[in-house]
Amino acid sequence: MIPLPPRLAAVARHVPPGRPFADIGTDHAYLPVHLVQSGRVPRAVAGDVRPGPLQAARATVAAAGLTDRIDVRLGSGLTVLAPGEAACVAICGMGGPLIARILAEGPLTGVERLVLQPMGGEAQLRRWLAESGWRLVAEEIVADGGRLYPVLVAEPGQMSLSRLEEEVGPLLLRQGGPLVVRYIDEKLELARRALTGASRSSRPEARARAAELDRLIALLIEARRICAGEP
Ligand SMILES: C[S@@+](CC[C@H](N)C(=O)[O-])C[C@H]1O[C@@H](n2cnc3c(N)ncnc32)[C@H](O)[C@@H]1O
Repeated sequence: MIPLPPRLAAVARHVPPGRPFADIGTDHAYLPVHLVQSGRVPRAVAGDVRPGPLQAARATVAAAGLTDRIDVRLGSGLTVLAPGEAACVAICGMGGPLIARILAEGPLTGVERLVLQPMGGEAQLRRWLAESGWRLVAEEIVADGGRLYPVLVAEPGQMSLSRLEEEVGPLLLRQGGPLVVRYIDEKLELARRALTGASRSSRPEARARAAELDRLIALLIEARRICAGEP
């Protein structure tokens, strides 16, 4: 069976068994090949917008002898899917805003679960989910090759998020623990660096950005305290 790195193995664990699956932005197609080989899903669609990754996906699927069960399709986002074709959609390894745009463009007809692995920009993605009739049912932080990756799992439903919950994740905030603290520390580091940059300029937009970053840093410090279990 094709091995998955810890980041994609975590995604695979959130894919519901026995349901048709689609991996959008599949690149090498390791995720759908692993899921079909392991018997977790009966069949899959692997989509990518670029011909190069699509060729890599075709090669992986052919080498695994799964061309009859994994359909590799060229196209942007969910447009490669027929309505109702996939009960679970994974979108991994892209920025949160791009994932949100792909979801907004749809169609999401018949999709019962989203498993998302954003590379930054999670706050925008969580905000889009909350505003678009999705609720988070699981969140986790995965350590892989010295880096941390968030995995977000959403199903149709309602949720409302505070600014802090958008940034850190409502379920991660509740979970706490050392990995979540590290995740917050990385966000703090990024926010502090951005603040240093914004503080160098006296332009009104930069001043507004600096004030926003100040508020974010205060929120993250509070989140860190909660997640580290500090009084
Ligand atoms: C960094 S790779 C991630 C591959 C794999 N999902 C993973 O997590 O290891 C991102 C892939 O998304 C594809 N991509 C970017 N925008 C896309 C879109 N609008 N629709 C489909 N695929 C897209 C890229 O061509 C690329 O192959």
